Amino acid sequence: MSVEIRYQSGFGNEFASEAVPAALPSGQNAPQKHPLGLYTEQFSGTAFTAPRATNRRTWTYRIRPSVTHHPYEPIDARLIRSGPFLEAPTTPNQLRWGPLPLPDKPTDFVDGIITPGGNGDPAMQTGVAIHLYSADASMHDRFFYTADGELLIVPQLGALHFHTELGILEVAPGEICVIPRGVKFRVILAEEHARGYICENYSLPFRLPELGPIGANGLANPRDFKAPTAAYEDRDGDFRMTAKFLGRLWSAAIDHSPLDVVAWHGNYAPYKYDLALFNCINSVSFDHPDPSIYTVLSSPSVVPGTANCDFAIFPPRWMVAEHTFRPPWFHRNLMNEFMGLVFGAYDAKAEGFVPGGASLHNCMAGHGPDAETFERATNADLKPQYLDNTLAFMFET
Ligand SMILES: [Fe+2]
Repeated sequence: MSVEIRYQSGFGNEFASEAVPAALPSGQNAPQKHPLGLYTEQFSGTAFTAPRATNRRTWTYRIRPSVTHHPYEPIDARLIRSGPFLEAPTTPNQLRWGPLPLPDKPTDFVDGIITPGGNGDPAMQTGVAIHLYSADASMHDRFFYTADGELLIVPQLGALHFHTELGILEVAPGEICVIPRGVKFRVILAEEHARGYICENYSLPFRLPELGPIGANGLANPRDFKAPTAAYEDRDGDFRMTAKFLGRLWSAAIDHSPLDVVAWHGNYAPYKYDLALFNCINSVSFDHPDPSIYTVLSSPSVVPGTANCDFAIFPPRWMVAEHTFRPPWFHRNLMNEFMGLVFGAYDAKAEGFVPGGASLHNCMAGHGPDAETFERATNADLKPQYLDNTLAFMFET
């Protein structure tokens, strides 16, 4: 059976969608009796009293309430790790990894997750975990959610279909998606293998960065974000619900699909974004701005103006700065920089940083272009140059 997948455009809008006519009550959130006999359930992604601009909640109208499951029991978390990250001493050395191998036995999206690192603590709702995934099996009878954070997923190999409580997102390499904290989902592989990166954000939800002097437009524009439309499953069976809660994995038997939301309205929903639509702003005179100019999404910290985590990208773009060392300069930084490569080559790293690989420069670790890149950039005859076939990204925390 094929389902037509439709989206609603905008970032954090008050979306509304019904898969069946009359499933979305009009005029009130919680009627005494739903016209189709559905259960009404509010789903809050922020404290009730969060300021209006940051308040996130969605009203769902579902076949069964979320409370209907058997008790959760702890299960092996395999290679998933969680803050506080105390298992091994964190090194101040510069780190670089090759891509994760593809699985040699059937492995779904959740079982294919490993955690190279992170910071903060989900119990304090601060910091992030950085995960990698490598999978070759779809989730048909298994569902997953994490109470520890929202998931920003960056596919590197293979398109994925995220079947979520609020609808379906098709996400291919070059796109990203964000699954809010608590949203239940399963992942169907559209190709034989899937591999990519995940930032599990323990803190405030990602939002669009302020634009300041840039003005009203630029970077990632709100209209290019896509939320799903309601698409429900009415399936009974012997299913498993896996929950990530305070760093541990728990599993419960459930006799139906929890993806049974027939209609919903609200601003707490998963979304996807095509990174090719990012409007790069950069220098047209000399020098180059800090990489924050490439910020797609930002999760604020408690320090005004700074981030718990920024998600920045380095897409194809023109380099035109005159009498300037154009690659990223040598530097040291308060923030920790985890980088990945979706495709192509990154302009500051000539070798050893391949698609699917990663690098990590922790707080105050000196880093910069390698010797070959330095030599070339220092002596280059500077003309306008188009950086083609490249998509690197950074989780900066
Ligand atoms: Fe850096």
